[in-house]
Amino acid sequence: MSEDATLRMEELREIIRKHNVAYYEKDAPTISDAEWDSLMRELRDLERQFPDAKPADSPTETIGGATSKIFAPVTHSVPMMSLDNAFEISELEQWTQKAQRKLDSEEVISELVCELKFDGLAISIRYEDGHLVQAATRGDGSVGEDVTHNVLTIADIPHQITGAPPILEVRGEVYLRISEFEKLNAIAEKNDAKKYVNPRNAAAGSLRQKDARVAAKRNLSFWAYQLGQVVDGPTLTSHFQTLEYLRSLGLPVNENATCVKNNIVELQKCIDDFKERQSSFDYEFDGIVIKVDSLDLQKKLGSTAKAPRWAIAYKLPPEEQITTLVDIEISIGTAGSATPFAKLEPVFVGGVTVSTATLHNQDQIREKDVRPGDKVIIRRAGEVIPEVVGPVLKHRPEGLPKWEFPKSCPSCGSDLTRPSGEARHRCTNYACPRQVRGRVEHFSQRTAMDIEHLGEQTIDLFVTEGLIEDVGDLYSLNFERIESFEGFGETSVENLRNAIHLSKSRPFGNLIFGLSIPHVGRTNADLLASEFGHMDTLMLTTLDDLEEIEGLGPVIASSVHEYFRTPKNLEVIEKLRTASVNFQGPIDEGLEKVLVGKSIVVTGTLENYTRDEAAEAIKKRGGKSPGSVSGKTDALVLGENPGGSKISKAEQLGVPILDELAFKELLETGEIKTS
Ligand code: IVH
Repeated sequence: MSEDATLRMEELREIIRKHNVAYYEKDAPTISDAEWDSLMRELRDLERQFPDAKPADSPTETIGGATSKIFAPVTHSVPMMSLDNAFEISELEQWTQKAQRKLDSEEVISELVCELKFDGLAISIRYEDGHLVQAATRGDGSVGEDVTHNVLTIADIPHQITGAPPILEVRGEVYLRISEFEKLNAIAEKNDAKKYVNPRNAAAGSLRQKDARVAAKRNLSFWAYQLGQVVDGPTLTSHFQTLEYLRSLGLPVNENATCVKNNIVELQKCIDDFKERQSSFDYEFDGIVIKVDSLDLQKKLGSTAKAPRWAIAYKLPPEEQITTLVDIEISIGTAGSATPFAKLEPVFVGGVTVSTATLHNQDQIREKDVRPGDKVIIRRAGEVIPEVVGPVLKHRPEGLPKWEFPKSCPSCGSDLTRPSGEARHRCTNYACPRQVRGRVEHFSQRTAMDIEHLGEQTIDLFVTEGLIEDVGDLYSLNFERIESFEGFGETSVENLRNAIHLSKSRPFGNLIFGLSIPHVGRTNADLLASEFGHMDTLMLTTLDDLEEIEGLGPVIASSVHEYFRTPKNLEVIEKLRTASVNFQGPIDEGLEKVLVGKSIVVTGTLENYTRDEAAEAIKKRGGKSPGSVSGKTDALVLGENPGGSKISKAEQLGVPILDELAFKELLETGEIKTS
């Protein structure tokens, strides 16, 4: 190997590492991305020529490096088990007693270690000769995914450990500090991007990034709590010693791990202490892990198929706090649903500050009988949406009036009605600004029509100024007027105009999703797009046909059916049509839609088509091809050896019967010609 090449590679690695520190750790890049890419390219080329000279921790293998290993399966040398759960203190006593019974009488479980059960993601990090060579997620316990590239960006985790045994696997939890989580969501809010529901999801999302530069920006953290495979390591006799050993190697070990005597009073004391301090930590934990301290006894106790017998997780009950219910307000959804929610005196519960909580609907409020002015209990069950448990009656001020569901929409003043049989109230005004805003926001979001430069504030302004009443109006915006608005320069108007224009060619499924048809989510929108292939076919489809689609369900079917029978919605569709928004689905091949609204049944064997191909050919031209003849059938196509019942039914109903030649003509012209 040329000496020059070796020197150049070393030089490049050093330069890149330096820039990486500036970029990832200091957030202050000293060169442009293009320059960085070119250095990386040069190093990668050289390493490809001289693969033997590539160390495992070369920047090409790590940050922003080759993607070849990313998420590749990793078989764990020692399985990563899960833990059995206990919800009551008494279950902990049963657990220790059961474990004790498994052992000989002289083998006494005298010490236990209590640790926090961190709410993050378990990973296993492998060091060979002190170098971090691999990090993998837990996966199913036997096989995880390679996330080395992202784990290398976690500042807590050393890339090299001096004095480490030849093979050392460290196990622990990757997590996101609450403060970092809040920063991340503040940025998301500023950029109009989707927020994470909790730190755990954000941490998981970060580890699942392909580009390590994204993970690096998230400032993930790590707690080490177990060893995996270790070759030629020190002799350790207890779990507590293991934690100290991990700490001595420079790994982050949580300072709260406590060794206690094996008795229920001690355990209870320790758990109570953790509970009390729960909200003072900058990270979330949802329980306490109790482990038998002696490694010798751990070995003797062994594991079940799923979990070790020497450890158990005591799950903490969801955290509750008391605060004042300032008011009950109504939020109006895209389809007009009116949802009451609680405005609260801000309170820190379950790791976040909560100032609003859903109250679902009128019945729930009646049942709980919460009233503005009440002290209420707020519960946040480890994650997601905080809940109002109920009022603290002893604190209720005298004469506090019952809350009544408002009669009119807070946004437009129209009537709020509660359709019979439904739990929800609705705002009946289609043009209600809140609804319009919601629908336009939904329409322009990334997973729908993906209209850049159309943020919440812009939409708000356009609605308030009366520029848009529905999503169809986006395609006939008065840009001259917009240019006269404050903050709208020529460039920003041009950007918006282009973005709206670009959205016209989004896939049909995105458009269906964007229409805010109640109950139609992303997946069902795609299903409808590929099933019907064209807006006109979808619009004309019957409820029966919709109900026949596998995976759609009756509620969605009738919602879609109703949507296309509502005059206001049809107006929107026509506006979109005029603007030449893409109405064609993925199965479309540019064929003329000569069969829109026609239902053609095929029976018997055709010479040039299989049954499926014939049905497909009909659908591609906008028609439908159900499996049986009915009063709605426009024609029956007859091949060789047909099913007798279809013919007699067709004859009975006077449905025209076509041979293959007539079918061919039908596909070309849409005309039904019997011979
Ligand atoms: S020990 C074989 N200790 O809990 C023992 N796990 O339900 C394996 N976890 O996948 C785990 N904090 O993600 C252990 N201090 C702690 C933990 C902890 C959180 C998680 C870990 C594991 C899950 C098992």
